[in-house]
Amino acid sequence: LASIEVNVAALEPGMSLTVKWRGKPVFIRNRTQQEVEAANAVPLGELKDPVARNANLPVDAQATGADRSGGQGKENWIVMIGSCTHLGCVPLGQSGEYNGWFCPCHGSVYDTAGRIRKGPAPQNLAIPNFKFTSDTVIQIG
Ligand code: FES
Repeated sequence: LASIEVNVAALEPGMSLTVKWRGKPVFIRNRTQQEVEAANAVPLGELKDPVARNANLPVDAQATGADRSGGQGKENWIVMIGSCTHLGCVPLGQSGEYNGWFCPCHGSVYDTAGRIRKGPAPQNLAIPNFKFTSDTVIQIG
């Protein structure tokens, strides 16, 4: 599988960018502390999909704020496939009731960790294989 490297040095907290990987948009977001805390404060029992859906973790990992993020020391980072788990539209960033992502096609609402909170989508936005190859470069795939 082809992997790509993305330099995220210019992404200040609160900024995001979208790259293309294997024909799909991938959202990369440097979350603010407030966004991280909002995600971490949600009890897992409130989640529609309690599974992390993180390709870097075991399949039964839970959808905690940390396990949806770039991992230890990188919890501000979110890397996700930008494809709504309902029917594949591209959700809009910093939108919707939880200020995460909002899918305009049928109204699915994702929180600041990309977890489905309302609407018809069945799963959290998928997290692809990725890793930081330096402090400012993310390899996807
Ligand atoms: Fe996103 Fe239907 S494709 S809500």
